[in-house]
Amino acid sequence: METTLVILKPSAILHGYAGQIINRFQQKGLVIHGIKMMQLSDELLREHYAHLVDRPFFPDLMKSMQASPVIVMALWGKDAVEVVRMMTGATNGRKALPGTIRGDFSMSGQENIVHASDSLENAEIELRRFFKPEEILHYEPTFLNYTYEPAELL
Ligand code: TYD
Repeated sequence: METTLVILKPSAILHGYAGQIINRFQQKGLVIHGIKMMQLSDELLREHYAHLVDRPFFPDLMKSMQASPVIVMALWGKDAVEVVRMMTGATNGRKALPGTIRGDFSMSGQENIVHASDSLENAEIELRRFFKPEEILHYEPTFLNYTYEPAELL
């Protein structure tokens, strides 16, 4: 099993889409092991988007990510990183396929509703960045036997 990080960005919060998006992940079978609302600081965002600091759109990205509090989530499941990235869709909402979150809720490259970790290695780094260890609560819901076959639970 893996745990991945999802951020419901201000574009999700300010549209009132948080519930619908959280529901999609739960309906898929992903389990919420951590969830909280927070206002992202300059320092945290510069670290999180370090690969983009030199891009011309970076100041707009900072402003966009600080337009309201965000909801951060730790989602647990089999191959959770890949499954959540597939559910998220392409970066630009206009290019993201219908059925993906960005494909269904976004028309923008910047205002694209969610962040999702892009590899297991980055998920581990990002979970540490946004959560204290005690804020991630490991438990196994009773529905697991109806979500996975036995071999998938090993
Ligand atoms: P990136 O890590 O490339 O994509 P993803 O979120 O799909 O992993 O980019 C991070 C965020 O930066 C992206 O979600 C929105 C913003 N962004 C722009 O505003 N314009 C751009 O051209 C790119 C590449 C990203």
